[in-house]
Amino acid sequence: MRKRSADPAKIVPSDITPYQQYLSRRALIAGGLGFAAAQSIGGFAGVAFGQPAAALTYVRNGALSVADAPNSYTDITTYNNYYEFGTDKSDPSENAQKFRTRPWNVTIGGEAEVTGTFSLEDILQPHPLEERIYRLRCVEAWSMVVPWVGFPLGDLLKRFKPTSKAKFVEFKTLYDPKQMPGQRAAVLEWPYVEGLRIDEAMHPLTLMAVGLYGKVLPNQNGAPLRLIVPWKYGFKGIKAIVSIKFTEHAPRTTWAGSAANEYGFFANVNPAVDHPRWSQASERHIGANAFGRRQPTLPFNGYAAQVANLYNGMDLRKFF
Ligand code: MTE
Repeated sequence: MRKRSADPAKIVPSDITPYQQYLSRRALIAGGLGFAAAQSIGGFAGVAFGQPAAALTYVRNGALSVADAPNSYTDITTYNNYYEFGTDKSDPSENAQKFRTRPWNVTIGGEAEVTGTFSLEDILQPHPLEERIYRLRCVEAWSMVVPWVGFPLGDLLKRFKPTSKAKFVEFKTLYDPKQMPGQRAAVLEWPYVEGLRIDEAMHPLTLMAVGLYGKVLPNQNGAPLRLIVPWKYGFKGIKAIVSIKFTEHAPRTTWAGSAANEYGFFANVNPAVDHPRWSQASERHIGANAFGRRQPTLPFNGYAAQVANLYNGMDLRKFF
């Protein structure tokens, strides 16, 4: 068997464990270890979810992780973009501490057989959790490496049986200006809206994150539920999701709606397509040990082998 490359640019589809196989492997492991392990399969058993930094039960998905060293917990939780809590990088960690993530509901709507409002527990309960170390490339030309804990978005979406008209998925953040001071100003159109094409949403790399560094997501990182699409600019990773809607047409997303010439719907990381106001050819890696280190930006953020085929025949300069 070929040895798997640690470089995500060199990972080929056959390196990635098919999800069903991964699940049955998990079941086998759990069976071998007996009751304690079997109980942990749900991931949420015994977790006081409203409490920040509560420990999660998860399995590391090495095949879908990059080999780069993750940034520190401090870097990841104090250098944030979350305009609902302010526009400075330090604002979210300072202003989001009292944000209430329980009780929490998610509304599922649009082109699907199963729709309605579901509690966070209903949404999360059936999904085993995995840790995946992903690169995060912000559109502002900085990057980090984050050990997320979550589950494949596609596994969640399938539960609602999208119809053949479901060509896109739209996500919305909570709108609550009382709790989110940033929403009292017209910095962006609120609530924050993001979207994916259905095949992007179903791609095995697309993650619904509920934690990082093995613990429940801190509020500033998007608790209780946020999206991660590692081959796209970070702004696709919408935080504090309260609505998921299957649509026939591409949703109007917040950033594309505010400046269509600067932020495209696809937002695939592409060093060859500059932002009109700055280059995307390289990025500054954030971190105490690497502050200011510039590195070249990789096509699709290093995930080209897994996702480039989603865009066959598309002019990526036009559909940026
Ligand atoms: N989601 C909401 N609701 N509001 C935001 O301002 N910022 C986005 C994205 N998700 C944002 C959001 C941007 S620009 C980035 S780079 C990532 O969140 C940052 O995620 P992190 O703070 O967990 O690193």
